[in-house]
Amino acid sequence: MSSDFTRAMRRLIGHCTAISVGEGEDRSGLVVTSGVSLSADPAQVLFCVNKGASAWPLFRRYGCFGWSSLGAGHQELAQRFAGFGGVKGADRYDGADWVTAETGAPLLKDAVIAFDCALAEMIDRETHSIVVGEVKAIRMADEASALAYWNGAFRPMTA
Ligand SMILES: Cc1cc2nc3c(=O)[nH]c(=O)nc-3n(C[C@H](O)[C@H](O)[C@H](O)COP(=O)(O)O)c2cc1C
Repeated sequence: MSSDFTRAMRRLIGHCTAISVGEGEDRSGLVVTSGVSLSADPAQVLFCVNKGASAWPLFRRYGCFGWSSLGAGHQELAQRFAGFGGVKGADRYDGADWVTAETGAPLLKDAVIAFDCALAEMIDRETHSIVVGEVKAIRMADEASALAYWNGAFRPMTA
C-alpha cells in the first residue's frame, strides 16, 4: 500500500512553500507541498512536518514560523530548503534575502506571498505533526508566479 500511495501522490500537483523557523545559527527550515489554508476568519494555515526533520523541535521552541510561498525563480532555494546536496540548518538560508517578521520569524523577502505565523497548534500523529499557524502579517510581491512540484520535478509557472 505504501509504495502505491507514494506513486499515486506523484500524480498530484503540489505548491512549494518554504517554512522557516528559529534564530541565528539555531535556524532550520524545509520546503513543503503540504501547506494549505485552514480558515479565513481567523486567518490560519497548516502544513505537515515529519517528526524526524531538523526543523521539527524548533516550532514549539520558538512559537512562530515563516511561511513563504515560492515563485518561478525560487527553484534553487527550494532545493536548499529541501536539503538537497546535504545542506543543513542555517546554511539553508544562504543565497537569498530574509527579513525578520513581527513574530520574530524569518520570512523570504521576495516571496510571492509570505505569512508571518504564530504557532496555534501542533497535532502529533504517527510520523508527522500537523502544524497550525495563525497569520499575524502578510507580505505580497507585485508579480505573481508559482513553483509547483509534479511527477517528481519542480515546475516553475508564470502567467
Ligand atoms: C517538493 C518537496 C515537498 C516536500 N514536502 C514536505 C512536507 O510537506 N512535509 C515534510 O515534512 N517534508 C517535506 N519535504 C521534505 C523536506 O523539505 C526536507 O527534505 C526535510 O525536512 C529535510 O529534513 P532535515 O531538515 O532533517 O534535513 C518535501 C521535499 C520536497 C522536495
